[in-house]
Amino acid sequence: MRQPLDELIASLTVDVPDHPEPGVLFRDLTPVFADGPAFRRLVAGLAAPENGDPRAAALAGGDDAGADHAGPPFDVVVGVEARGFLLAAAVALSAGVGVVLVRKAGKLPRERIAADYVLEYGTATLELHSDSIRPGQRVLVVDDVLATGGTLAAAVALVEQLGGVVTAVSVVVELAALGGRQRVAPHTVHALWTT
Ligand code: PRP
Repeated sequence: MRQPLDELIASLTVDVPDHPEPGVLFRDLTPVFADGPAFRRLVAGLAAPENGDPRAAALAGGDDAGADHAGPPFDVVVGVEARGFLLAAAVALSAGVGVVLVRKAGKLPRERIAADYVLEYGTATLELHSDSIRPGQRVLVVDDVLATGGTLAAAVALVEQLGGVVTAVSVVVELAALGGRQRVAPHTVHALWTT
């Protein structure tokens, strides 16, 4: 039988103590991304946040995740800089939809909206091009890690400010002790691995 996805992710993740500062346990997911079969399953899992949704289940279950004729339950995937970009791009490609970038301050060249947020370590600002989401568009928001939830809460707020409808929020790993899920509420965060 196939190894459960959460166990697979856990087995490939490398824990780095005291990075980027003392007391922080950094979960390095890059070995998961570097493993072809694991990355494929990861992308399918992120694309299927509603376990009970047959369209989403079809997307997650098969090896050819893009072959779901009913279409995915979202119109666009939003990825958060930086590691969220590679995940969002892969999910969007698998689902046959476009990808939109939520970037850190000062990177987007055109008219944009901004949201400040507090990180597990430090503070920052996220930005989104004002014309990147159309009102009523169904949006899947994707990132690698849910820690304190500040990043995803800010990303969701930006999407909603433009009239987007956040239908799901997907992450690879949720660091449950930091309580980020509450910060993103009322949206439910779909985590492939909770630790
Ligand atoms: C990391 C991670 C998430 C965020 C989670 O981003 O990729 O986006 O922190 O933290 P939070 O839930 O406490 O907000 P970071 O900006 O550190 O790094 P990256 O640019 O390398 O993705």
